[in-house]
Amino acid sequence: MNLMVFGAPGAGKGTQAKFLVEKYNIPQISTGDMLRAAIVDKTAMGMEAKKFMDAGELVPDSTIIGIIKDRLDKEDCQNGFILDGFPRTLAQAEALEDLMSKSGKKLDFVLSFDVPDELIIQRIAGRRVCPKCGASYHVVFNPSKKEGICDACGDNLIIRKDDNADTVKNRLQNYHNQTAPLIDFYKNMGVFAQIDGSQELSKVTKDMFEVLG
Ligand code: AP5
Ligand code: MG
Repeated sequence: MNLMVFGAPGAGKGTQAKFLVEKYNIPQISTGDMLRAAIVDKTAMGMEAKKFMDAGELVPDSTIIGIIKDRLDKEDCQNGFILDGFPRTLAQAEALEDLMSKSGKKLDFVLSFDVPDELIIQRIAGRRVCPKCGASYHVVFNPSKKEGICDACGDNLIIRKDDNADTVKNRLQNYHNQTAPLIDFYKNMGVFAQIDGSQELSKVTKDMFEVLG
């Protein structure tokens, strides 16, 4: 199964992707997580990407497409994958189509989580993330069992550097201008599924699995 989780920053892509990983045993490919790992490793690419990420701007297409191409070639993607946070521009979507068609693959579903901007701002304000495994929590809506500690791997939870009010405003604006136009692209391909992402977490998960059948 080749899946994509789609939506604005803070819509719940990463949170729901973890349930898909468990159910289908296929990897979550989050360009955001990969870029953050490159920053931790202080690679040249990571250092360049950091400037854009800290400002809430999109990292240039050529960098992102290169990362995805290398990642999809890996053995663990051969039975399927979950794209999270990619593509975010029309150029990225077209590059993905090109890569997939060359290897005889197709997307099965684009699972889009629809959440109004006001709610996004609340979600991002209370988010805590695990720098080790990428798990995402919320201090009110989805707290970890032990405050400040990841349920999955026991690491200390942190606040993402780009989760501040000004950067979030910019990220939302970039989503509406550059990423939301992909909705029509995937509707035309017949793979787009809209899910009400503003509901309680477990209801969103239920609706997502209903779409997948
Ligand atoms: P990335 O890491 O992809 O961030 P994002 O798209 O901005 O999305 P988020 O990770 O913020 O949100 P999410 O939808 O995963 O929500 P989550 O599940 O955590 O990208 C970061 C940056 O990297 C970009 O700004 C850009 O600079 C760069 N980048 C990455 N990919 C790129 C690309 N392809 N091209 C160019 N640049 C790229 O949930 C959010 C919060 O809500 C959590 O606290 C969670 O617990 C809570 N929550 C989730 N669901 C619910 C629910 N149903 N009810 C209540 N709370 C909920
Ligand atoms: Mg995420």
